Amino acid sequence: MTKKIALLAGDGIGQEIVAEAIKVLNCLQQDFGFNAELETAAIGGAGYDQYGKPLPDETLALCEQADAILFGAIGGPQYDQLERELRPEKGLLNLRSSLALFSNLRPAILYPQLANASSLKSELVAGLDIMIVRELTGGIYFGQPRGIRVLDNGERQGYNTMLYAEHEIERIARSAFDIAMLRDRRLCSVDKANVLEVSELWREVVSRVAVDYPDVELEHMYVDNASMQLVRAPRQFDVIVTTNLFGDILSDTAAMLTGSIGMLPSASLDQNGKGLYEPVHGSAPDIAGKNMANPLATILSLAMMLRYSLEQSELASVVETAVGKVLDQGLRTADIADGAASVSTSEMGGAVTAALRVLGQR
Ligand code: IPM
Ligand code: MG
Repeated sequence: MTKKIALLAGDGIGQEIVAEAIKVLNCLQQDFGFNAELETAAIGGAGYDQYGKPLPDETLALCEQADAILFGAIGGPQYDQLERELRPEKGLLNLRSSLALFSNLRPAILYPQLANASSLKSELVAGLDIMIVRELTGGIYFGQPRGIRVLDNGERQGYNTMLYAEHEIERIARSAFDIAMLRDRRLCSVDKANVLEVSELWREVVSRVAVDYPDVELEHMYVDNASMQLVRAPRQFDVIVTTNLFGDILSDTAAMLTGSIGMLPSASLDQNGKGLYEPVHGSAPDIAGKNMANPLATILSLAMMLRYSLEQSELASVVETAVGKVLDQGLRTADIADGAASVSTSEMGGAVTAALRVLGQR
């Protein structure tokens, strides 16, 4: 059966980078016998501009039907003053929640070709390969009650609630253990169990799930220490599993360790492996429309989609190999050029497609 892929380019550089992933998809269809139906829809600020809300009904309906979703980026300064419900971020958060995309995989890989791009000494990060598994549909991002209330003395007070039910902890823990089994079989669960009850339960449930995975070495770490260890000795980590908020923060740190956030893909999966795939970087409004953004994180997100949602792991590897080839050729967009000559977004996408064609002829 033909798979259906929803393409949600969004805002800022979203359109440009998704356009390059579409080139790759077309090449896979022409030269590799891959078969998929592609359909585009508006999200984020683009959804608000066209339909008056960041997750238009049409977009949600398409995503519900699709086998996988390729997402560009959302957000821009022109939307910052909108009420919270209408802001672009809300489109993404609602999509994650509506589709129950609870398991967010954020790899942080240092490409050998870009060894000097990290802000850490190269001997600390050489060969870095961490997978952060972030819980994505619960915790303080979605917990009720939340709001800003007026106290008796007239002063305003903001409040949010960090909630985790046992089943939510259990399913993300299983997701992380399963991934650890495919890697180096080491899992670090990050919490704040010395202060928060919600973390105490988190730790207890993760330890309970561990009994089913005797081959995985489980460690627990407080989030403050984990953030320190990530910049002190990042290679100690294989897989990290953590809550929505801690994962948001730690995944940005981990991305920076590689020095090339423009290279990092991510996947957000539901219980059945349906997923939303997006580059870790954001909408970069400052360079939008300038044909200078790095499309590789989006192309690598497409590779993750082929592997995790479309049962095409060989094609996934071919796309990753093609990306490796263009890096070997010395092609760099401005973000990874380290001041040297750089290529444009479309040149980079074109080079990946050309490398793919060569691989397809073998
Ligand atoms: C991310 C982003 C989002 C988040 C924002 C855009 C809502 O920072 O995907 O990490 O906080 O989850
Ligand atoms: Mg974030």
